[in-house]
Amino acid sequence: MRHHLIVLVSKFPPSSRMHLQQPWRPSTRDFFNYNRLVMLNRLGDPWIPGLQVFALGKERLLGVENTILVTGGAGFIGSNFILGWMEREDGRVVNLDKLTYAGNPRNLQRVFSNPRYTFVKGDIGDRKLVAESLLTHKPRAVLHFAAESHVDRSILGPDDFVRTNVHGTFSLLEEARAYWLKLNASDQESFRFLQVSTDEVYGSLGAHDSAFTELTAYAPNSPYSASKAAADHLVRAYHHTYQLPTLTTNCSNNYGPFQFPEKLIPLMILNARSGKPLPIYGDGKNLRDWLYVGDHCEALRTVLAGGQPGSTYNVGGWNEKTNLEIVETICSLLDEFCPKDPVVPHRNLINFVTDRPGHDRRYAIDARKIERDLQWHPRETFESGIRKTIFWCLENDEWTKEVTSGAYRQWMETQYAARDTRARAI
Ligand code: NAD
Ligand code: TYD
Repeated sequence: MRHHLIVLVSKFPPSSRMHLQQPWRPSTRDFFNYNRLVMLNRLGDPWIPGLQVFALGKERLLGVENTILVTGGAGFIGSNFILGWMEREDGRVVNLDKLTYAGNPRNLQRVFSNPRYTFVKGDIGDRKLVAESLLTHKPRAVLHFAAESHVDRSILGPDDFVRTNVHGTFSLLEEARAYWLKLNASDQESFRFLQVSTDEVYGSLGAHDSAFTELTAYAPNSPYSASKAAADHLVRAYHHTYQLPTLTTNCSNNYGPFQFPEKLIPLMILNARSGKPLPIYGDGKNLRDWLYVGDHCEALRTVLAGGQPGSTYNVGGWNEKTNLEIVETICSLLDEFCPKDPVVPHRNLINFVTDRPGHDRRYAIDARKIERDLQWHPRETFESGIRKTIFWCLENDEWTKEVTSGAYRQWMETQYAARDTRARAI
């Protein structure tokens, strides 16, 4: 077993408190004897030649466990990912989540008492906690879902978006890099940092533009997408500069179980069932590509297993639909499943309201790279996925009741009360 040699490099003479040894320069034999020499100055920067070097001591190289660290695992996609992962894969899952309004530990009830699952409540921006979690659990990969994720909230209050999505991701990257530097060579090679991102970073397409590819230049338009774009750039830089083995996925709009009912699909299902207006922004002709969350989770497992470090992969469902088409589909399915709801046909509830400021007109994903290189394909069509989603909502109205408590009602009032509504039958 070879050892890890930690070396402190400093411009300054060692203080007695630091127990430094003699000024020291590594010899060829040292390089041979030690698997890797880590040379850092006090700020954690790499060694700069010409400075005095002081050996601090020897430390065994860390070996990873068959564990993954998931951030934001109590949110919509993260909880679907953890549940799917624990059914299919071995090893442990550590979920680091701050439990904001969007995080709900109940999503993970099925795995609570499973010894393979550990929950850590905390902020990705808390570097001490992140460092401790990494060193304690020794994950072989970090899957980074944690984010503020709702465009409308980012318009009303962008601060949290910059704090979590930009600064939080930076903190996580820094701690992941420090941890990664402590790993033995083969674990360093197989370690992955997977950044879960969005197609919104590419900006808005015109009606006849080709779909976004991995080479499309970033042009984010909302505070949300700008904060995700900034995070993606940091991830890219950490690969380019420090060789941290990163992967980035840019996925289109997800829908499915456990989605917080402030996003289009669960909001429309909830309002339609209770006879409330279905607020459609602008003319309802904005286009999005929609992917069932289970397909997204499978894409993430696929990229984690086979993705090329430093690469990005677009993930999409080849399902471009206008918002109005989505809402009309939901209404017809609810007419079929819930004919006794307060207002039927449900489409009578459709209400066109003032548009979202800076509302992106169209997103479309070209997912050929992940399909060709990693043989991932979506399993659900929009028709099958939306049926599953509606069934889930009908069977889990307790969940919906729980998440639509006081704070939710306050958000709905702030968000929709100010919008000019123009009720219009269609
Ligand atoms: P979500 O809002 O449902 O969940 C976010 C989770 O992150 C919550 O559990 C929340 O408690 C946690 N969180 C927030 N700030 C945190 C912090 N500072 N520290 C630790 N945890 C924190 O989001 P989602 O829809 O599940 O999205 C997950 C990821 O996928 C996000 O990064 C998002 O940008 C990306 N994404 C989402 C979609 C989509 O359609 N929902 C599409 C593509 C990509
Ligand atoms: P959303 O679910 O917020 O996702 P994103 O903005 O990240 O794409 O919205 C999806 C689309 O639905 C978007 O074009 C905005 C529109 N929308 C409405 O028309 N009404 C609503 O009440 C909401 C929440 C969204």
